[in-house]
Amino acid sequence: MRTSTATNLLLAAALATITSARPAITSNIVARAGGPAIVPLPSTCTVTNPLPTSGATTYQPVPLTSNALLYSAYYPSFSSNKTLMAEQCLQQCYGYGNHVECKTAFWAENIVVPAGYYGTPGGQLSTGCIMFSRTLTDSDFVAAPEGQATDAFAGNIAC
Ligand SMILES: *[C@@H]1O[C@H](CO)[C@@H](O)[C@H](O)[C@H]1NC(C)=O
Repeated sequence: MRTSTATNLLLAAALATITSARPAITSNIVARAGGPAIVPLPSTCTVTNPLPTSGATTYQPVPLTSNALLYSAYYPSFSSNKTLMAEQCLQQCYGYGNHVECKTAFWAENIVVPAGYYGTPGGQLSTGCIMFSRTLTDSDFVAAPEGQATDAFAGNIAC
């Protein structure tokens, strides 16, 4: 599947300039160059959902997963189509580096922005895309407080 990579990257770069997720905080901060390109997954890749299936609540990664944090972006939702936004997050995970570094993508609305994000105090709720350098399992997630991590999506990529 490497034969079409150059084409995909060019396409992704073109798309990224139009649709790339932006940080929630833009004042006084230059948008980070080098956010992962949006690269569609080859059909040979599989995506599995590591979120716990029990319970009626939504889930978010436990704090300890931050030791496997690869990249994160917090931004206002740019579409009413949550599937589209989650899919873009997954495709940015695949687009990271050489397509093998990012193992799991997590996307949700109403995530608490961590303190220190772009040097800000954080604490507000935002849509976010978080990428991990290891494959998360259901034990890496915890029920989110009510109203948080709504419409959560998580995908483990195996190519
Ligand atoms: C939302 O996005 C997904 C993924 O791109 C797409 O398959 C679906 O058709 C979209 N739904 C609507 C209502 O546009």
